[in-house]
Amino acid sequence: MDMKFLILSIFWVPFIRTTAGIPIPPRYDGFIFSDTSSSSSPVLLEAFIDPLCSDSADAWPTVKRIAQHFQDDLMLIVHPFPLPYHHNAFFACRAMHIINKLNSTLTYPLLELFFENQDSFSTSGTIEETPSSVIERIVELATNSFSNLVSSGFESDFKAGFSDPGMDMMTRISFKFGCSRVVVGTPYFFVNGIPVYDADSSWNFIQWAELIEPLIGNNKGAHSIA
Ligand SMILES: *[C@@H]1O[C@H](CO)[C@@H](O)[C@H](O)[C@H]1NC(C)=O
Repeated sequence: MDMKFLILSIFWVPFIRTTAGIPIPPRYDGFIFSDTSSSSSPVLLEAFIDPLCSDSADAWPTVKRIAQHFQDDLMLIVHPFPLPYHHNAFFACRAMHIINKLNSTLTYPLLELFFENQDSFSTSGTIEETPSSVIERIVELATNSFSNLVSSGFESDFKAGFSDPGMDMMTRISFKFGCSRVVVGTPYFFVNGIPVYDADSSWNFIQWAELIEPLIGNNKGAHSIA
């Protein structure tokens, strides 16, 4: 073997490993729906959601109702997961990270705003539009919708987030995190870390409640592991 090649390959292997690895974020990925949990061991429901995915939008009202119903016994974390075939999904997920940093109480209102305006940011609807115009419209939509909730600096701060490499990295980590858990679509659910492959946007309140309720019983009573 050529010596030069050998030396190169020794140096290349760790280099490749580093770039292919997932940077560790300062905190667990995702947005906690309600962090008022007083239970020491709430059931953890994780939902991988693409703000521009219609199935995610369909699933959301039920998932939200479940989180509200079980309150302290359940912690819901939404992980933003941009699907590549929704061309503006990365911007939408980035917007969620940006607003979460600016004012975390607006994270879920922004998610719902995307759900209500999916058509406006769809791949087919924006195919002739420049990315900067899409970003501009996201900023405008949020600024107008939350105008009575935010201070005057909101619009420029929100816009600046789209050129902040830190926010870009957080969004990439969300994506990579989903990949690391073999998420291949949205919505995708995990309960206490276990994938719930059956659960999809058609699941109703009863189906969810039947899954969660026995787990809460275990938390409160004796540990019965079948
Ligand atoms: C954050 O948003 C809430 C509304 O959800 C608002 O009442 C509050 O004033 C905002 N805080 C800041 C610092 O802008």
